[in-house]
Amino acid sequence: MSITRRHLLKMGAMAGAGLALPLGAISVPVGRLAASSSVRSPGVEPFTVPLPVPPVTKPAHVHGGADYYEMVQKAARQEILPGLKTEVWGYDGVFPGPTIEARRDRPVVIRQWNELPVPVSVHLHGGKTPPGSDGYPTDLILPRGHDPGAHAHAGHGSAGKHAHMFKDYSYPNAHRAATLWYHDHRMDFTGPQVYRGLAGMYILRDDVEDSLPLPKGDKDVPIVICDRTFRDDGSFYYPSLDPTLQEEPGVLAHAANGMFGDTILVNGAPWPLLEVSNTMHRFRILNASNARSYDLALDPPPPGEKAFVQVGSDGGLLEAPIRHDRIAAAPAERFDVIIDFSRYPVGAEVTLTNIGGEGKTRDVMRFVVARGEKEESAVPERLAPDLDFPDPGNVEVTRRFQFIAGVFGGMSAINQKVFDPDRIDARPRLGSTEVWEIFSDPSHPFHMHLVHFKVLSRDGGPPGPYDAGWKDTVSLRGGTVRVAVRFEGWRGKYVFHCHNLEHEDMMMMANFEVV
Ligand code: C2O
Ligand code: CU
Ligand code: CU
Repeated sequence: MSITRRHLLKMGAMAGAGLALPLGAISVPVGRLAASSSVRSPGVEPFTVPLPVPPVTKPAHVHGGADYYEMVQKAARQEILPGLKTEVWGYDGVFPGPTIEARRDRPVVIRQWNELPVPVSVHLHGGKTPPGSDGYPTDLILPRGHDPGAHAHAGHGSAGKHAHMFKDYSYPNAHRAATLWYHDHRMDFTGPQVYRGLAGMYILRDDVEDSLPLPKGDKDVPIVICDRTFRDDGSFYYPSLDPTLQEEPGVLAHAANGMFGDTILVNGAPWPLLEVSNTMHRFRILNASNARSYDLALDPPPPGEKAFVQVGSDGGLLEAPIRHDRIAAAPAERFDVIIDFSRYPVGAEVTLTNIGGEGKTRDVMRFVVARGEKEESAVPERLAPDLDFPDPGNVEVTRRFQFIAGVFGGMSAINQKVFDPDRIDARPRLGSTEVWEIFSDPSHPFHMHLVHFKVLSRDGGPPGPYDAGWKDTVSLRGGTVRVAVRFEGWRGKYVFHCHNLEHEDMMMMANFEVV
């Protein structure tokens, strides 16, 4: 009999009963990781596949100042590795999913149809979304076979008959311009379902951003980075402790550190190549990996200057640009950066590398400075008006959470408790500001739904170089991070969790309810 979530829960309850957890205690079934790492993806010659840009999808109709989309989640075969076909589970059958272009204060409604064999839930990461549309992990769109009233090919007209096969998600977009993304959020299965392809970009724009001379059009490029391992036939490899399971819950895979692939994909292509002119380009970097963090640099570095000019974070434009030699991006973080290719001669090859990677995962993609062109963009020293950060002097409540991996026979926990959809761990008041102090062991990417936050400190010192601006995900780096959060938007129940998706599936997640 396979290990079930229930067994693990029981183990957890037993372990939790009389156990004082020494910090750093790790009890994971490490032996089970060995098998997975023996799988090697088919080789690909790096920097040969052109960088694809995910298609921008169009609304099915426009009505009353809102954009209405229809998306079908389905399986499809896609050429990811040259000459091989991979079955992906994609929004509209593509991986990464189509990009949604949204405007501030112009609502978007997406009707999501589920034609996959499994339940799904869609979350707009970084969105200020009412609770019914936030993609709560148990708020599922069931697959066709699970719907007792559904006919095989029912039309759009008889919505009542298959109410579970689609769901309308409403996004008010009452938020400044920012790079968001949408992805699956099904309880226990987010890791494997995102891994199979259920993730896409959602770009929110506004007039403030439009008025800036930043690179635009085809010089504003989404860069969705993730890692995957493939079997010899091109199929995605996602290990499960029990290979006979039809579905492979993330809760069972790679208990310790999450799923690490050996092939780096950008916008769904392995180590791709992008030809650029010798001008500034804006890259909206999203780390959409299940577990891998990246430490990005340019090789060769531009002579005498920092490689990247950061103009935006998870929550949109910074007040002023920040220059970096490296960009460290944990899962789900976004970094909006300008690279100025005029610092290289025409003909130069510039590799985006991952300093932290080993072997092939040290490479991400390559730029070739293919031609000269007149510069039409600039990076102003003032990007956005006052970001109106919460005032930490005005705080009603301070809460403390510990994110510790590998407890309870491989589960992960927050304050020594595993996720329970029925337990509320914090009840912030609508409109209030709180300080959340999060301790981690080892590092975990901490994410809150509904809100953005301001990083106040790390281990008692100042915030780190990648903590600027409004954030919704922050890499805890095995220490204590304090953030200030203003609870605005809606009352209701939302999750916060580790964005290492295997940790999330191993129940490193909890609820807050805005009251
Ligand atoms: Cu990006 Cu709760 O998720
Ligand atoms: Cu989120
Ligand atoms: Cu974690």
